Amino acid sequence: MTNRAEATIDLDAIAENLRQLHQPDVLTMAVVKADAYGHGATPVARAARSAGAQWLGVALPSEAIALREAGDTGAILAWLYAPGDDDLLECVRRDVDLNVGAVWAAQEVADVAHAAGRRARVHLKVDTGLGRGGAPLHLFDELLDTVLERRSDLEIAGIWSHFASGEVPDAIETTEQLAMFDDALDRARRRGVEPPLRHIANSGATLTRPESHYDLVRLGIAMYGLPPGPQVEMGSLRPAMTLRASLASVKRVSAGHGVSYGFTWRAPRDTTIALVPVGYADGIPRTAKGAQIQLAGERVPVVGRIAMDQFVVDVGDREVMPGDEVIVWGPGDVGEPTAQEWAVWDDTIGYEIVTRLGVRVPRRFSGTV
Ligand SMILES: Cc1ncc(COP(=O)(O)O)c(C=O)c1O
Repeated sequence: MTNRAEATIDLDAIAENLRQLHQPDVLTMAVVKADAYGHGATPVARAARSAGAQWLGVALPSEAIALREAGDTGAILAWLYAPGDDDLLECVRRDVDLNVGAVWAAQEVADVAHAAGRRARVHLKVDTGLGRGGAPLHLFDELLDTVLERRSDLEIAGIWSHFASGEVPDAIETTEQLAMFDDALDRARRRGVEPPLRHIANSGATLTRPESHYDLVRLGIAMYGLPPGPQVEMGSLRPAMTLRASLASVKRVSAGHGVSYGFTWRAPRDTTIALVPVGYADGIPRTAKGAQIQLAGERVPVVGRIAMDQFVVDVGDREVMPGDEVIVWGPGDVGEPTAQEWAVWDDTIGYEIVTRLGVRVPRRFSGTV
């Protein structure tokens, strides 16, 4: 490694994870928003397509356009925009499906489609309880009516929703959301609307709730090999991201020597401390407690405050040199911490750990896809 730090993204692991997650007779949408959860949207999208993903999912219209610019020609859904989003027109022109979860959005996408001289493909979102986007059930009929009135500009490709607790096996909320989703589908059917794509499952529901699969599952975190929640069994799914760094300084200090801002840690004995040149600007969570990294096959503790560009580890009496490589997180194969462990140390979720890996950390891609 020639950089101070580098993230290796194992594209074979992503492809293999997707193959394992594939559900018979159900389409797969690989969720590659937020730069593929920090892994790199373009290469991950290619890996996902090679593993058979018929769909890509992104939050922002601009993310969909970037995938088109990178050469992806397959089906893409973008689901998050505010009124007046400049990228909607380009999405319609470039065959990107759009979420429509409110009357204003239906009108806006229809107007954009009209201007583009083509029909927009839309997925009508029903809020089955999450309380974010989408029409609540009592407004779903009005949304359907609006879309049907604009049927010369809008084609209904799907009806969809999103779970609040998909990662909690047997969650009652999931059962309730499924009932409400079925109710919305019935309402649509009564108006003659039976779109080919009904979808609600994320990774957690895909792994724990077969009845939630419908026509398509939207897979994010599990494709990257990380658990959607602590109770979800991951089998042989494999984390795709490994973050390595080269030690930038090594020094012997005496007992009582303070380390990093505020001296929240002082050496309890004479020891060697080593500097890892990544910090919270790179996505290392400053508030992590009890964090560790791996050095020469062994775990060593992070000590003192994690700073913007760097943090310190206590390596004891080990012989180490500047330039020695450490693993901050990885798949856990050789005893290194995983992103999920970092999530626990920071009282957060693995999603946040990988997604926040900063732009200063170069990604290197391994694998044959
Ligand atoms: C609408 C939607 N569907 C699917 C996903 C994928 O979720 P997960 O990463 O839990 O599989 C997300 C991610 O947050 C999402 O926002």
